[in-house]
Amino acid sequence: MKYALVTGGSRGIGRAICIQLAGMGYHVLINYRHNDAEALVTLQAVREKGSDGELMKCDVTDQAQVSAVLSGWMQSHPDQYIEVVVNNAGIRKDNLLLWMTDEEWTGVLNTGLNGFFHVTQPLLKNMLVKRFGRIINIVSLSGIKGLPGQTNYSAAKGGLIAATKALAQETAKKQVTVNAVAPGFIRTDMTEQLNENELKKLIPAGRFGEPEEVAALVGFLASPAASYITGEVISINGGLYT
Ligand code: NAI
Repeated sequence: MKYALVTGGSRGIGRAICIQLAGMGYHVLINYRHNDAEALVTLQAVREKGSDGELMKCDVTDQAQVSAVLSGWMQSHPDQYIEVVVNNAGIRKDNLLLWMTDEEWTGVLNTGLNGFFHVTQPLLKNMLVKRFGRIINIVSLSGIKGLPGQTNYSAAKGGLIAATKALAQETAKKQVTVNAVAPGFIRTDMTEQLNENELKKLIPAGRFGEPEEVAALVGFLASPAASYITGEVISINGGLYT
């Protein structure tokens, strides 16, 4: 049995990634924060792909909680390891920096950047020992370009891009690749309140992307075919030039 963990797997891009990895034969650990009903919908979809999975409820911002959940899993699976981790959990709390509250700043950084550390660090040793691993971080156009009103989100994603590049160099010799996927506008709950009709005029492809299109790229990076790709940031944005 091969295991993959997807953070924020209860909906949106995370759900599509869970389904993609299930289709590749992975037993999928579906992390989420509090929406049990939505996480169960993901689990059902994973099963419909002919694979299986389990729910792994915890808040990635809470290091003690993440550590307890992951070490519990490792103790109950002493002969197995999580070979793919997709750090997908992320939130937006947009505001101009002038008006930004501490909570808006730290909330976004804690989820997007500290969450990566809390989840990835405990899983790394087994990947290195077993000499195979895939760490895939979902970042954003905002982390490459910087977007006004998203100083917090751009900082979280930009920090995660730099962490991706640094970690890739630490682990490459052990066949553990570390890459980032940077979506543009993807149709999910996160972008629901945006004016799609206006924004799509800026996108050469003339439309928002679908979560499944991001998931297909993540699936490729997780596959053995992507063994020689590491430390990369791959944009998926319909040609929205950065
Ligand atoms: P979403 O809001 O639909 O889903 C986010 C997921 O993260 C949810 O399942 C949520 O429960 C989970 N999550 C949030 N905080 C968490 C925490 N503390 N612990 C555990 N899980 C937590 O968003 P969407 O659009 O699916 O985004 C997924 C990722 O893609 C995010 O990292 C986002 O920043 C990134 N992204 C999305 C884009 C878009 O256009 N939708 C564009 C660029 C990046």
